[in-house]
Amino acid sequence: PRVAVIVVAAGSGTRLSAGAPKAFVGLDEHTILWHALRGVVRAPSAQVIVVAPADRVGDALTDVREVAGDRADLISVVEGGATRQASVNAGRMAVWPDVEIVLVHDAARALTPPDVFARVIEAIEGGAAAAIPTVPVVDTIKRVEGGQIIGVIDRSELAAAQTPQGFARLVFDAAYESSDVEFTDDAALIAESGHEVVSVEGDTLAFKITTPPDLDRARHLVSPLHA
Ligand code: C5P
Repeated sequence: PRVAVIVVAAGSGTRLSAGAPKAFVGLDEHTILWHALRGVVRAPSAQVIVVAPADRVGDALTDVREVAGDRADLISVVEGGATRQASVNAGRMAVWPDVEIVLVHDAARALTPPDVFARVIEAIEGGAAAAIPTVPVVDTIKRVEGGQIIGVIDRSELAAAQTPQGFARLVFDAAYESSDVEFTDDAALIAESGHEVVSVEGDTLAFKITTPPDLDRARHLVSPLHA
């Protein structure tokens, strides 16, 4: 395939405090990872690399088998690292040689609609080195220091970054090979190495399941009562 999707599902998910690493918490009878993979395999045929905590590789394979159907040969599971960036890098090592476009996706954004994947891939196919989905910031954002508001930030200049974040493979590899600074997302690392990152339309459904209320919302969205 021309496209690979690295689905990062390692890390402990301590902010969720749901008793299991985040990607393995249930939304309904299925895990967050299962739902994330369902969205990924609906996209046109891509290599999929799941990055799981070392002690959850078996559980990740179970989800992969359930979701893969006739795509089983395209999906693999590798062990993650101590940071998100280390986990992405572990996934990167498993990208096949013929791949030209790499997407990095948080398993925690389990309900991301397929359209978002399509828009990111389209931007890279159109020549962008890097493309990320964003949504407008709805809250007014303040600078706070020691309990005091010390400044406002013009909201119209701000956007919240989501995943999947897409990259031309050569740019992605070069940036990861040369950087040892930690960033909170991949686009920041690519920007640091001097490339322009374009924004495509994200989706509020691509929210990251981070806190207990996020988990409630995701459970509500997948429940049969909601549909
Ligand atoms: O912790 P946070 O919500 O920012 O994590 C974002 C994504 O990165 C999650 O899908 C999580 O599974 C993944 N991650 C990882 N390896 C880590 C930390 C986080 O794969 N060491």
